Order: sequence, then C-alpha cells, then structure tokens
Amino acid sequence: MAGGKGISIEGLPGVGEATAEKLREAGYGTVESIAVATVAELREAAEIGESQAKKIIEAAKKAAEIGTFVTADKVLERRKTIGWITTGGKQLDNLLGGGIETRAITEVFGEFGSGKSQLAHQLCVNVQLPPEQGGLSGKAVFIDTENTFRPERILDMAAGAGLNPTDALRNILVARSYNTDQQLLIAEKAEEIIGKEGVRLLVVDSLTSHFRAEFVGRGTLADRQQKLARHLLTLHRIADLKDIAVFVTNQVQARPDLFFGDPTRPIGGHVLGHSATTRVYLRKSKGGRRIARVVDSPNLPEGESIFVITEQGIRD
Ligand SMILES: Nc1ncnc2c1ncn2[C@@H]1O[C@H](COP(=O)(O)OP(=O)(O)OP(=O)(O)O)[C@@H](O)[C@H]1O
Ligand SMILES: [Mg+2]
Repeated sequence: MAGGKGISIEGLPGVGEATAEKLREAGYGTVESIAVATVAELREAAEIGESQAKKIIEAAKKAAEIGTFVTADKVLERRKTIGWITTGGKQLDNLLGGGIETRAITEVFGEFGSGKSQLAHQLCVNVQLPPEQGGLSGKAVFIDTENTFRPERILDMAAGAGLNPTDALRNILVARSYNTDQQLLIAEKAEEIIGKEGVRLLVVDSLTSHFRAEFVGRGTLADRQQKLARHLLTLHRIADLKDIAVFVTNQVQARPDLFFGDPTRPIGGHVLGHSATTRVYLRKSKGGRRIARVVDSPNLPEGESIFVITEQGIRD
C-alpha cells in the first residue's frame, strides 16, 4: 500500500496542466484516486477521450502499486508500531484495545447528544499528550461540517488533561466545510499538511451530514455511495501512509422498534457500509451516562463500556 506516495498527478503520462486542473477540481487530486476511477468517470471529469482516460488510469495503477502483496509477518511488524490515543475513559480505552488507533478509521455512530462531538474534541486534546499519558505528542486536524467545533470546550478539556489551554488550541487545525465537494477537497488538502505539521489525528465531524442532506431528492443512492467511498478511500490512505488516527462521526437515529433486532441500523440504509476499521455505537443511558459498544471490529471482541461527559471532559 506504500505506492503512489509523493507522485503528483502531473507525473502521469497523458496528464497535462489543463487536464490536471480539471481532475483536481473533480476530486481526483491524487494518483490513487485516479487509479480506482472508472474510464467513464475520468472522461467526464477531465473532458478527455476514452483511450486517453484508459492510458491515464493504467499509468496511475502502476504508479500507485495497487495490487502489491506483502507477507503477513511484515503486516504484523507494521502493526507493532501502531499508536493509540486515550479517550479519557479507562473502560472505554480497554474496550477499544487501548484507545483510538493510528492507521485506521474509527467511526462513532449514535443519535443526537450521544457524545460523538464531545469525544472528537477530547481526542484533539489527548493526542497532544505525551505517550506515557496516552497521547502521541501530535497535533490534530478537525474537519467541521456542522459548525459544532467549540474552542471553549477545548480550553476546559485541556485544563482537565493538564495541558496549557492556549497551546492546546494552537495545536488544532480547524477547517469548516459547507458541502460534500469541499469536504473531499479539504481531506485531500489535509493530506498535504499532515506530514509537515506533525499531525497524528484527523477528525471529520460529521462524516455523513452533508452526504445525507445533498443526496435527498436528487442523485441516487449509488452516486452518494460512490462519492462517500472515494472520500473514505482518501481517509484510509491518509491514515495508513501518514500513520495517523482518523476519527469520524455519523449520526443515526435510535430504533426502539427494533430493540430485539439491530437497533443500530440507521434509518435510510447504511451510508458507510462497513468501510470504517472499527465502529463504535454510542447511546445515552441513565444519569447522564453514555454506553459505548464496539461493532464489526476486525480485531476487537464485541463488548460494552460506560463513560460520562464532565466539564473537564470524558471520564470513567
Ligand atoms: N461542558 C459540558 N459538561 C458536561 N457535559 C457536557 C458539556 N458539554 C456538552 N456536554 C454533554 O454532551 C452532550 C452533547 O454531546 P455531543 O455534542 O457530543 O453529541 P453528538 O453525539 O455529537 O450529537 P449530534 O448528533 O447532534 O452531533 C450534551 O447533551 C451534554 O450532555
Ligand atoms: Mg455532534
């Protein structure tokens, strides 16, 4: 998966300056995104002919080294260097196998007020802690799609974590996005700055709200899935190549009618499918408590844990 790093799309045969610009505008800013595009998509995006589109995709596939296999011992070796960010709650960390892990996408989903954004804020603070305190001594990028980022919350949580609150604010890079196109572009932009800035956490809060809003009544579910899939591909690539933790939120409505079935199935179908590495379902409980449950993890047992949201942040 290490291929494609550092190669700009202008480096591909058949991609001149004008074509590169059109491709970027359409969201194909990286070699990998072109490698997984269809001929029809590329033709439309760059206004080029079929043979040129085919040629560019072939070249991108080669450059991105998609389809390269590694032996499993190398995979294990790589997994040993994975980092974790504490959530602030010991129980919750245990449930997650140590916290939110790097080189993976962690999705939290749950209804309004379940604590998704609070957790996102907390991680932006905790990633700044030194490793012995559960952090990665890194910065955070926060893609804010719902205008829910609150610096005041960071000040409280930073004080609660023993960090200098003003410094903590300076270590968080915030970008607002107002639609899905911007969201995709900001994620690609983030990819460029992450290496330079020592970023170890990328938050998208919320991953899905613009997708839900924009694809209601127009476009098809398939269009939405395709665009979201492309976005997730970017996020996976950033997580993997830059060794950072990606944390995304997804609002779903609780379905009490399905209490004995799967209450976590979002109304309107799965927007995400199963493309996040680890999925955590949050729900409200008595006395302000929150219950987290891990679902569909490749390496964690399913289970639940309880945490609370205090003035100082997430606690047991
Ligand atoms: N300063 C605070 N002290 C204690 N609890 C707080 C504080 N600020 C927020 N909360 C708690 O967090 C809850 C809001 O959670 P959050 O914003 O994370 O929900 P969410 O899951 O992101 O919801 P949505 O889907 O609407 O975005 C509040 O209802 C409150 O219980
Ligand atoms: Mg929220």
